[in-house]
Amino acid sequence: MSPHVPEMLELARRALANAHAPYSRFRVGACVRTRTGRLYAGANVENAAYPVGQCAEASALGAMVAAGDRDVAEVVVVTERAGLCPPCGRCRQQLAEFARPDTPVHLAGPEGVRVTATLGELLPLAFGPDTLPPAPPRP
Ligand code: THU
Repeated sequence: MSPHVPEMLELARRALANAHAPYSRFRVGACVRTRTGRLYAGANVENAAYPVGQCAEASALGAMVAAGDRDVAEVVVVTERAGLCPPCGRCRQQLAEFARPDTPVHLAGPEGVRVTATLGELLPLAFGPDTLPPAPPRP
């Protein structure tokens, strides 16, 4: 197990405790570690207009981007429920923007990590930044 997981899990749990999930009551916390060694946590943020809600992974990635960081090395997603909380399809795509197919994604509960999968296992044959042709130079 990665030596970074305990601290990532702690930050993800703290974020989960602050989740805004009054509609689903399904609180989620996430933490991403970047290759710079920094950790960014996030929680799900639901909305009275249900489809507008944001997942915990997206919140963590948003904090990372706002801090000027980009390169994700490891991910933790934590739930307080008995079952697994695998990242939704949208989150898998959002993670693929900043992570690599071999990036570990740890799915955890209150007792610790339950399952670890790589992003490539979660999102095989991904459409990613390398799929696109190089962007044209700015005018
Ligand atoms: N949720 C996440 O935060 N991450 C996921 O990958 C799956 C789902 C949240 C969204 C919503 O607030 C709640 O879990 C129930 O779907």
